[in-house]
Amino acid sequence: MTSEVPLPAPAPPPPGSSDARRIEFLDDRVVAEWAAAKAPLIDLLRRAWTPGRLTGFRRGGRDAVLVADPRHVHEVLGTGGDRFVKSGGHRARPLIGDGMISATGERWRTQRKVLQAPFTGRGIQRWEHHIEGAARVVADRWAARARTGEPADLAEDAQFFTVDTIWRSLTDHPLDAETYEDLAGVQDIVAALPADVGGGQGLPAPAAEALAALDERMHRAIADARSRHRTDAAGAGLLFRLFDAAETDPRYDDRLVRDELVTLLVAGYESSARTLTWVFVLLDRHPEVARRAAENPALIEGVVAETLRLYPSGWLLPRQTAADETLDGVPVPAGTDLLVCPYLTHRDPQVWPDPEAFVPERFPAEEPLPPGAYLPFGIGPRACLGTRFAMREMDVLLGALLPRFAIESTAPAGDPVFGLNLRPAGPFHAVVRERR
Ligand code: HEM
Repeated sequence: MTSEVPLPAPAPPPPGSSDARRIEFLDDRVVAEWAAAKAPLIDLLRRAWTPGRLTGFRRGGRDAVLVADPRHVHEVLGTGGDRFVKSGGHRARPLIGDGMISATGERWRTQRKVLQAPFTGRGIQRWEHHIEGAARVVADRWAARARTGEPADLAEDAQFFTVDTIWRSLTDHPLDAETYEDLAGVQDIVAALPADVGGGQGLPAPAAEALAALDERMHRAIADARSRHRTDAAGAGLLFRLFDAAETDPRYDDRLVRDELVTLLVAGYESSARTLTWVFVLLDRHPEVARRAAENPALIEGVVAETLRLYPSGWLLPRQTAADETLDGVPVPAGTDLLVCPYLTHRDPQVWPDPEAFVPERFPAEEPLPPGAYLPFGIGPRACLGTRFAMREMDVLLGALLPRFAIESTAPAGDPVFGLNLRPAGPFHAVVRERR
């Protein structure tokens, strides 16, 4: 965990140092001190950050380069094609197996194609009633709590909502309490996964138990949906799309269906839940913004976009050079970790004046942003499959809550934790009250 200190204004490139013609490496002693302090990776990346430059460091026998400048981000994720790849040993592999997020090459291409259509603008209209149903559950909870004035954990509400929407969309079933418990165990597994690349692949015992409970639930859900698929193949659940794929592609055996289901579940609820929690935290800190958004729901989109700028749940998007490459004309040897860091890119003072300030009115941007400058959902071919789904579900929930309720925290939100995802530590206790 790291305390949230405003980032120091990054140093300008040293005078006379030409643009970034070579990678500047951090002194090994700086890295050794960081490692000895068992500090989080973000602390080292902050040390490495000089806008416009590529800075490298060596840790654990691996060379890494921080990629935070929009131009470099755009090249690595956007235009770089197959030159910069996801590594085969994805950090989340113990949980998601060969699911789409960790798949590479031709396998990834086929897997993405199978699930692309349900996540287009038109495709997500099929999930609209699920999203609205799940939002009503939370709005009813808040109305009941507003009557009693009881504080509750809003991070839990955010999580319940996003698990409910994705579960309904996957299986066509609303969420029951027992299933929720097993699915929410995913957060313990995600918390146990390494933030950095090259970390251990095993899971500690409690996370392994949560994984076993999750797998048991997944196999039951798959068996149940499979029997319904036989009689009602036109059903809407996303799982049905995977069964359809299994009819023509033998790769979609029970194992891959499970991996893809868990991938959609994890990708589909973790990031949205953490983002919604950050929205609640920021609106509690900025009641004047909350009031403006209550009066003018058109501001909600800006609130979400600005929250994603300050707290992009995918704060680190690692890639690797498969062969000797160049990046912005600079040689980068094969096997180098390229640590794309949207968290730092989103705080680049050359793009975002007063970068630490929460200013939803920055969005929609008046001038087009430089390519690679804003990427809460990633960019390029591996960008988030669920962007539209996520934006829609957050918009529907916040549209139901913000005009009606005010939030007041009863304990401060925890510091940001830079794990696999960027989340606030611990719960976020608050009371809610009706505005009228
Ligand atoms: C606020 C919510 C969300 C955020 C901030 C977010 C962010 C991201 C980011 C940054 C990536 C790219 C990772 C990389 O380049 O290494 C990604 C990939 C992905 N996301 Fe999301 N996501 C969100 C919600 C969702 C939802 C709701 C779903 C599905 C229902 C989803 C499914 C996926 C999948 C399947 C991928 C992998 C795509 C691929 O590799 O081709 N995400 N997401």
